[in-house]
Parts: sequence; structure tokens; C-alpha cells
Amino acid sequence: MPYTFSNLIEGARPSEIRELLKYASQPGMISFGGGMPNPSSFAIEDIKQIVNDVLTVSWKYALQYGNTGGLPELREEISRMLMETEGFAADPQEIIVTSGSQQGLYALPKILANPGDIIISEAPTYIGAISSFNVNGIRTIGIPMDEFGIKTDLLEKTLEDLKRSGKKPRYIYVIPNFHNPAGYTLSLERRKHLLELSSKYGIPIVEDNPYGEIRFSGEKVPSLKKLDPTAEVTYLGTFSKVMTPGLRIGYLVSSTEVVRKVNLLKQAVALATDTLSEYIALEYLKRGIMKKQVPKTITLYRKKRDIMLSSLEECFPEGSTWSRPDGGMFIWAEVDKSIDTTAMITKALEKKVAYVSGSSFFPDGSKRNNMRLNFTFSEDDQIKEGIMRLGEVISSEMKLVKAA
Ligand SMILES: Cc1ncc(COP(=O)(O)O)c(C=O)c1O
Repeated sequence: MPYTFSNLIEGARPSEIRELLKYASQPGMISFGGGMPNPSSFAIEDIKQIVNDVLTVSWKYALQYGNTGGLPELREEISRMLMETEGFAADPQEIIVTSGSQQGLYALPKILANPGDIIISEAPTYIGAISSFNVNGIRTIGIPMDEFGIKTDLLEKTLEDLKRSGKKPRYIYVIPNFHNPAGYTLSLERRKHLLELSSKYGIPIVEDNPYGEIRFSGEKVPSLKKLDPTAEVTYLGTFSKVMTPGLRIGYLVSSTEVVRKVNLLKQAVALATDTLSEYIALEYLKRGIMKKQVPKTITLYRKKRDIMLSSLEECFPEGSTWSRPDGGMFIWAEVDKSIDTTAMITKALEKKVAYVSGSSFFPDGSKRNNMRLNFTFSEDDQIKEGIMRLGEVISSEMKLVKAA
């Protein structure tokens, strides 16, 4: 007897990134596709020591079912860390540990919206957020960005139009630092405007900040949660980019009411986060490994960003533009308008270079001539070689389109 699937899962599209990961391991392939940290950013010796110590001292707890909200000591350490790095106070009761911040991204539309409701995001936005909106039946409205982040004047206009037609979005989802995929950072002025709009229209904000600590240049801009502690801001953080993504530890900070609802959902989805991973993350913070490791990761990635930027300058055809991120893991490139980067991907793969096409990052799949380039995973010489190959693919595609 055939299975009948739900409308929501029938409507879900596979992520281009997951598909591309299959090619990433082919011999000779240079992949700028996945959003993967470089393995040399993992503090492997420290992690080995921690695992050994945890399994010697706390194994009875670390191998047992955990608390749905997360290990209490870990929540306390996260609270301390947030005060130190972001400068805002979060009571451990206002924190829930999640399986990566992706679990928070999945939970929020589930607890704050009903299928058919509207959520506002930047356009482009993180592909995993689009997936979570899709499987929750959300209608996403994307607001264009420029190098200073989401265009808050356009956001205001959209909110006003929606209000006039009697619609109220459930929340505004933003990635203020070193945006994935765009690499842009939301300016202080626009952060303030965004908070004003949130309060004027009574719409909460979800601030997703996986890359905030990985800054190579420029001044730190205060988080939305710090700028206005009275505003309804739910903050998502993760250990994926500052420890390892394999351990799947993230966290969500919000009012105790929101945290309680996420906890209820998590009871149904996962019972608890992996306890062993929680213990590892706890020790990683307590032993000061995070503080020691992040500057090393910054040095490693800054060099890679610079190599990619200079390679783009050298190899991409005239008329191409790209972002110059002050941190994070991605450069967002725009190529000649005649090119459809989704169609071009097979030609790039033939030349053994991968990227993610821009349309994947638009809630409505629009915008055909962008690509996201990850600069953290590849080795330095591969970055040069890969951008050279990609430059050639784009140039020959431009010639083909012109000749047609
Ligand atoms: C903007 C953004 N949010 C959330 C995530 C999810 O990260 P994780 O679930 O590993 O914490 C990512 C991962 O790349 C991301 O780029």
C-alpha cells in the first residue's frame, strides 16, 4: 500500500547545498558550496582531553538522558559567555539548549505561527531558515538588502502595506552579522530603525547570530538584544562555528514563556539534546578553550577571505561584483545579468568547482545571477585555483549567451 505524504512535506524542496555535498568529496573537486568550518579550526587535542575526562569523571550523567532545557551548568556558562561577548544579561531560565541553532529555527515558526502566516526575512536569507519556514507552511516575505543589511525603509513600507490589508507578520527574522549568504553586517543605524519598527508595529524579532564572534576587521556592532533589552528579541546562538558543528550544540535566548513553549516542542521532537555533547561544550567553555581558539580561527579565516577577494579581483570577468565581509564564512558574488547561476552549476562541476547558486537563498527563488562562495573550508591554494576555474566558467558562459 503506498504511503500518502502530508502537504507540508510534499511541498518541501531538497536543499541545493545538501545535494552539492555529494560532489564535494569527488577527487579534485574544489567546493565553495557547503558552509563548513575548516577542520583546522577544531581544537582537536583539547576536545580529545575533554572527552576523556568527561567519560572518566561524569560518564554516568554524560551517557544518560538529559534535561530537555539543557544541562543547567551549561546554561549558566552560556549566560556568562553572552554577558562577556555580547554584553547582555540572560537568566539561565531564559536559555534553552538546542541541537544546533537549526533546531531553534525549526521551533520558532512552529510555536509562534500557524500554517499560512507571514514571517519577514531578509532577501537573500539562510537556506535552513527557508526550509524551516517551508515545512511549517509559512509564507515568507523577503526584504532586499544592501551592504548595510536589510533595507529598513523598504521593511517599513511592507509593514505599512500589510497593516493596511489587515495582516500582521509573526516575526522578523534577521542575521545581523556577516550574513549567510550575503556577508553583509547590519549597520547600527539600521539596527536602531529595525527595533523602532518592531516596537511600532508590535512584531518580535528573531536575531540569528552564528558568526558574530568571527570578526576579521572593523568594529563590533551591538546585537539587537543588547541595544534594546525591553524589545521582544529572540536570540539564536551556536557552538557550530566556534567549536565544531558535529557536536550539534546551539541555544535560544528569549522570554521564559517562549523558552517554555520551545521546551514543550522539544519534548516531542528530541526529548533532549545529546548529553555528551553538552558536557563537552560545558568543559570547552569552563576551560577557556573557546577564548583560546576563536582568535586562531579568525587568523585562519581572515587569510582565506583575503585570498578569495584578491583571486576574485584577478579572475572574475569585468562587470562582476562581490561583498567584502568583515567576518563570517561567505562572499556573495553577482555576475553578468545574462547568466543563470543555477543552470551554470553543471558546467562548474564539470570543471571541478562548486558553489551555491543565489536563487536558493531567496524565499521566492528569484534572482538568477548570484552565487554564494564559502572561503573557510578550502585550503589556500585551492581557493586561488577554484576561483580561477570559476572565472573561466563564467567568462565562457557569457560568451555563449552573447553568441546566442
Ligand atoms: C545563519 C545561520 N543560522 C543557523 C545555522 C545553523 O547552524 P547550526 O544548526 O549548526 O547551529 C547556520 C549554519 O550554517 C547559519 O548560517
